[in-house]
Amino acid sequence: MSLESREAPAGPLTQANAQIHQGHEEAILCVIERLTELDIEAARTGLGALSEDMTAHLAVEDASTHQRYGALSDHPRGAAPELFEADHVSHRKVMSACVEAMGELNERAPDLRRQVVLILPLFYRLRNVLEHHTLREQRFLYPRLDAELDSAELEALVQRLTTQEES
Ligand SMILES: [Fe+2]
Ligand SMILES: [Fe+2]
Repeated sequence: MSLESREAPAGPLTQANAQIHQGHEEAILCVIERLTELDIEAARTGLGALSEDMTAHLAVEDASTHQRYGALSDHPRGAAPELFEADHVSHRKVMSACVEAMGELNERAPDLRRQVVLILPLFYRLRNVLEHHTLREQRFLYPRLDAELDSAELEALVQRLTTQEES
């Protein structure tokens, strides 16, 4: 029996959040792929959609699940509510740096490939920030909410996360 099969299945909020973050991870990789093909138009379109989606997810969490978690007591080390807030701040910062760098690419310049090579690390940075934050949410925040909230509240929060309703 594998270790995973002995673990309890993830609760509804943990599962919903995992799916959303997987979508963001996939979208970042697609943007990087388009950049490496020098298909700047497709890379811009992909990044625009990702930025909109990620911004909405952060805003919904700020207004719902992260607040609910903050209201609980005895947060473990490494999972204080302020750390989640700080994660969201760096998320937004790196995302806008990516949008800005993409906007500054000059597609007609002869050194387009070099420009892309120079901005690629920013996109890997966004991926790292996302990965780090995903681990923190999936290990601490969402399992705790899944364990402590009643099923009606969980259902309402899953609905907010998946439809991105801010209020
Ligand atoms: Fe999240
Ligand atoms: Fe988050």
